[in-house]
Amino acid sequence: MEARWLSELVILVGLFGVVLAYRRPLPRRTISVPLPMDADPDTSPQQVHISQVGQNNMKISWITQSPTPAIVHYAPSPQANASFATGSTSSYSYLAYQSGQIHDVVIGPLNPNTLYYYRLGDPPSSTQYSFKTTPPSFPLKFAIVGDLGQTDWTRSTLQHVANSSYDMLLLPGDLSYADTVQDRWDSYGRLVEPLASQRPWMVTQGNHEIETIPVLHSQPFTAYNARWRMPFEQSGSDSNLYYSFDVAGVHVIMLGSYTDFDSDSAQYKWLVGDLQKVDRNKTPWLLVLLHAPWYNSNTAHQNEPQSYDMKASMEDLLYQARVDVVFAGHVHAYERFTRVYKDKADNCGSVYITIGDGGNREGLASKYIDPKPEISVFREASFGHGILDVVNATHAQWTWHRNDDDEAVVADSVWFNSPSTVPNCKV
Ligand SMILES: [Fe+2]
Repeated sequence: MEARWLSELVILVGLFGVVLAYRRPLPRRTISVPLPMDADPDTSPQQVHISQVGQNNMKISWITQSPTPAIVHYAPSPQANASFATGSTSSYSYLAYQSGQIHDVVIGPLNPNTLYYYRLGDPPSSTQYSFKTTPPSFPLKFAIVGDLGQTDWTRSTLQHVANSSYDMLLLPGDLSYADTVQDRWDSYGRLVEPLASQRPWMVTQGNHEIETIPVLHSQPFTAYNARWRMPFEQSGSDSNLYYSFDVAGVHVIMLGSYTDFDSDSAQYKWLVGDLQKVDRNKTPWLLVLLHAPWYNSNTAHQNEPQSYDMKASMEDLLYQARVDVVFAGHVHAYERFTRVYKDKADNCGSVYITIGDGGNREGLASKYIDPKPEISVFREASFGHGILDVVNATHAQWTWHRNDDDEAVVADSVWFNSPSTVPNCKV
C-alpha cells in the first residue's frame, strides 16, 4: 500500500520530548449490510431514518420492497394508546434498478426532549422503534460528520457517534458512496438505521449524490432526493438541495454546493431571504453546512468551482449575517480554521471546519500545503467525527474525535464564543 498511508504523525508533548506516535490508518473495504434473517424481504420496514420538521414534528422515512400502507403508530410510552399519522409513498428507477416503496410520514405535534415509540405500516410492524425529540432550549448537542460512506471505518465512527448522547446529527454531504450502484443506497440505509431511526439526521448533498451518467441517466440527485427528502418547503426553499431549520436556539442552514449559487440563482435569493429572517434573540447561534470547503489547506480539492466560486458568491452574505461556524466535507480529513473573512483572520468572521472524515472507501487525503497557512489552526488526516455542544446562548464546545485504532480520542477541542455577542460584531 502507498507509503503515504503509513506515514506517522508525531506529536511532541511538553518540553522533554515525550513522543506519542500515531500511525495513520489504511482505508477499509466497503461493507454490505443485508436485511436481518428474520425479516420479510417484501413487507418488513427497512432503512428507517427520521428528520425534524419544524420545531414540533418529525418525519419518519422507511422503505418496504412491496407496497404497504404509509402509516406510523406512535406514543410517548410503549404501553400508551398510539396515535397514528399517514403520509406518502414514492419510488424511482435508475437504469435497470427499481427502488422499493419509499414512505414518508410526518408525525406530531410532539413534546420536546421526549422519548417516543413507534411502529410502521398497517398492521403495525412487530419491530418497535424509538426516538428522542430535541430539547426546546440549550444545551443542545450536535454530532457532525461528512463523507460517511459504508466501510468498517464508518461502522467505527457510527459506534462513537452512538456513544455520544447527541440530540441531532448534521451531515455535510457524501452519504452512501453508492456511486450509481443503487443497491448500495439500500445497504447504507440499513447501516445507519440503528442511529438514524433514533435521532433526527439532517443532511445536505455532496458530489457523490449527483449520480448522473451521460446519455443513460441525466437527472442528478435521483436517489438522494427520493430517499433523503429533507423539510425544505418549511423554510421557503423550492429544492431539497438547500433548506434551513431551527432547533432549540440554533438556526441551521444547509447549502447545496452542486446546484446554482451565483447571485442570480434561486439558492442565492433564498439564502438572502432566509438570513434576513434570522432573529438572533430567538436563535443566537447560526450554523451553515455545505459540502465543498471554502477554506482548505489540504492539497485535495483545491480550486474547484464549487469551493472557489461559491465562496466568491456567498461569503459576504455569511459574513454580514455573522454566521458562527461553517462546516464542510469533501476533503477526507479534519481541519479547523480560526475566524476568517476573505482569507484573513477576522473576529467577526465564521470559523470554518472541514469534517469529511467519516470513513469512506476512498481513504484519507493526507497531503497538506506547506507551510501551514496561519489561519489554519489544526489539521490532521484521520477518520473521526465532531461534536458541537451548544451550552448556552454564547458558548459552545467543539470537539473532534479521531478514530484512533477504533477508539474515539479527543484530538482537538475548543470553545466558541458567538460573534454576535462581541460588541463590534453585532448583527
Ligand atoms: Fe465529496
